[in-house]
This record gives sequence, C-alpha cells and structure tokens, in this order.
Amino acid sequence: MMDRETIEPKVKKIPGSNAKKWVSYHMKYASLSTYNPYFVWDRKAPAIGPFLTDVDSNIIMDFCSHVGSAPLGYNNPALTAMSRELGGIDPDRYAGADFISGYGHKPDLSLPTPSHLHHKLIEITKQFRFDQAFLVSTGTEAVENAIKLCYQARKNYGYGICFDGAFHGRTLGALSLNRSKWQHRAFYPQVPKVISFPYPLIKDKNNNQWYKTGRKGEKISVLAETLSKDCGTIKPEEISYIIIEPVQGEGGYNVPTPDAFREVFDIAQQHDIPIISDEIQAGMGRTGKWWACENFGVKPDMICAGKALRVAAAVGKKDLFPKEDGRVSSTWAEGNAISTAVGYKTIEIIQKERLLDNAIKMGKILREKLEEIQQKNPQHITDVRGIGLMDAFEISDAKKRKKILYESLKRGLLLAPCGHKTIRVLPPLDVKEREINLFSNILEDSMKKLK
Ligand SMILES: Cc1ncc(COP(=O)(O)O)c(C=O)c1O
Repeated sequence: MMDRETIEPKVKKIPGSNAKKWVSYHMKYASLSTYNPYFVWDRKAPAIGPFLTDVDSNIIMDFCSHVGSAPLGYNNPALTAMSRELGGIDPDRYAGADFISGYGHKPDLSLPTPSHLHHKLIEITKQFRFDQAFLVSTGTEAVENAIKLCYQARKNYGYGICFDGAFHGRTLGALSLNRSKWQHRAFYPQVPKVISFPYPLIKDKNNNQWYKTGRKGEKISVLAETLSKDCGTIKPEEISYIIIEPVQGEGGYNVPTPDAFREVFDIAQQHDIPIISDEIQAGMGRTGKWWACENFGVKPDMICAGKALRVAAAVGKKDLFPKEDGRVSSTWAEGNAISTAVGYKTIEIIQKERLLDNAIKMGKILREKLEEIQQKNPQHITDVRGIGLMDAFEISDAKKRKKILYESLKRGLLLAPCGHKTIRVLPPLDVKEREINLFSNILEDSMKKLK
C-alpha cells in the first residue's frame, strides 16, 4: 500500500535492469511508435494519485497522467471499485460504444451504461445547448465522426478549415487536419480541401500572423479576409466546418489570444459554418472548466471529447446529426462496458469533489512555481503557459529538453514533451499542493544539470 499523503519519489536507477528487459522484449516485435523506453510501469505494484511503482521498484511521480487520459491518477478507489464490480462479464467489449445494454430491468445510476454516459455528456454541455451525443472509442474517431457529421449536414463543396500547429488524430480523415509535425501526414493520403490558417498564439504578442492589412488599409484577420464577401477567395457556404483546439495539445500547449480565438467563433457564426472545438486533450475539466473553449466565452456547435472520458464522443446540436439510420455507427467490438462506466464515474467524481475548482487553484500555484523556476533559469526556459492544470514550459532547444526530461525522470518525475521544444505538465485533476512542491523541487534540481 502507498500513502498518498506521505509518499515521495524514490529512484535507484533509471532505466533499471528490469525496464531494459521489458523494453528489449517489447521492441523485438512491436512497431516503433511514441512510447518512452525509459519508463515501464508495474501495473501490479502499489500506485496512488500521481505516484506509481515501475518494474525496478522505483517510485515515480507521474505529472503527465498519460497525457490526460488518467485524469484522476492511479487507482482512484471509486474507479477501481467500479471496474471490479463490472469485470468478469464476457464479452466486456461488445458491438459499438454507442450501443444499448443494461443492468437489470430499468436504467438506474448504480451501474452506468452508454445510455447514462450519453445523458451525462448532454448535462455537462448544457451551456452550449447541445442535444445529441455519439459515443465512440478513441479521440481520432470522435474527430472523424464530427467532420463526417458536418459534411453530411452541410452537403456543400466540402472545404474544411483547421489551424497551424493542430493535432486531431492519426486515422486518415483526422490526420488530414494535422498541422503540427510532418510525421503525422507525410505520404499518407488525406481528405481533400482542408485549408489551414495561422493559430492566433498568445505568445505572438501583436498576432502578426493572424492580422494583416486589408485592401482598404484596415486591420483584418486572415480568416475574415479569406471568407469576406467582397474580397475573399472562398465562399463561406462552401465550407463544411471549422475545427480548432481551444488550447493546442501535441502542437505545443499553445494558448490562443482570447480576442482572436473569439473572432474565429464570431466568423463561423456570422457565416453559419459549424465550428467544432476539439476538446480531446483540453476538455473534461483540465483547464478548470468542463470545456476549455468556455475560458473564452464561446459556444461551439460540436465538441470532440476523449482521453479523460475513457471512451470518446462527438457531442453537439441536433441539426448536425443524421436523420437516417446507419449514417454513423461506432466501431464494432469497441463498445467497452467498463471504460464507459469509468468515464461516467470520472465525470461524477469531478463534480462531487469540485475538481474544476481544484484545477484552477492548483493550476495557479503550478504556474507560479514554473515562473519562479523560469526566473532562475532565463537562459533555458523561454516561456511558461497554460490554463488550469494544462500547463507547459518551453525550453530554448530540443536537446536541452531531452536532458531535462531525463534528469527529471532520474529524480522520479515523469513529464512529457509536446511541440518541438516544450514540456507539458498535466498532474491529476485532484493534485495536492504537496505534490506540486515535490514537482517544483525536482524540476529545479534537474535544471541545475543544464549548462
Ligand atoms: C486535441 C486532440 N485531438 C485528437 C486526438 C486523438 O485522440 P486519440 O489519440 O485518442 O485518437 C488527440 C490525442 O492526443 C488530441 O490531443
């Protein structure tokens, strides 16, 4: 057993000899991918909150929470109790994630099903007046289905708009919308007619990429000009959707300039173009609001949720969903009774334990700590940014970033990269101040190893 109130990271050696054995066994047969070859979690060993034990009995503090897919850290008691109760029924993976199956004679809340999760998603999107949810299994499928829904609802020329730095998934439709790294798209066929615009970055102080001087000498955004009735190059009615991340994830934890971000939504509304907020990484309470776009006071027509939800979903307004049977359906044999119930319970825990408030409060403390470390290391840390518990610090170059990630792990702190030279910090949503102090002490110590 581990006591979350007192446990601290403790490392003998990273990678230890057992981790090396696991990694060489794994890599003999598995495709190269994005896994971390220095860290192997021992699933049977003690773990609680952000703390886990690796296969060499090192105690590691995980401050990336599987890139937000474990929003309540390890072994949350309510979640493990739910998995135990629902385990042992076969098949646990059945038909589709959106299918109907029940426990007993009528739907009560003791054992949540996909029907309950659809309902819960409508409850936590009531601020957008959404009325339909469609459950799938992975983030990329949520994006695929969101754009499919828009294509079929609009029945127009099928342009899609995305943004530089975007990441929306790895299947062929979703990857067509990616603009963060060449590895995601090169030589793969793509959905046609996807156009990208600069993402209005908060760190680009005057938004020089977003605004330009228009024909009459006025300041105009690149998106407004392209869609303008008098001097634009694309007719807005030819556009099926705009898709945007309210805080870019894989692209580097980029926070948008609020006014410019709002302008994207205003333009969409003005031209009646459906706008999808991809909340797969930023949503589900990570930024202190259920959905990160709420930080900017905007209302999308559809959101994509995933990761922290344990399954994934496209949720939106009824008029975007098909009227005919069979136009969409989630992937067969991917309905996962346990993940769906855990997703439902995760939302309930965030509500009951007021974890949106915790994300705001602890996020502020975390960023203050990062800013203090930046002040002591201005030659190495070039930026600190984030909202709530979706935070990051940017390093002056990628080589130094690699060193910091390794030095931190050697001291028992697991972090993850994003963008080209950024490190993301995503502790569990119930993170405690003591854990943030441990994080900042380890990071500060690791920074000393940089020249
Ligand atoms: C913003 C965003 N959209 C979509 C995806 C794709 O989700 P998945 O990996 O579950 O397919 C991700 C995953 O990192 C993401 O961060």
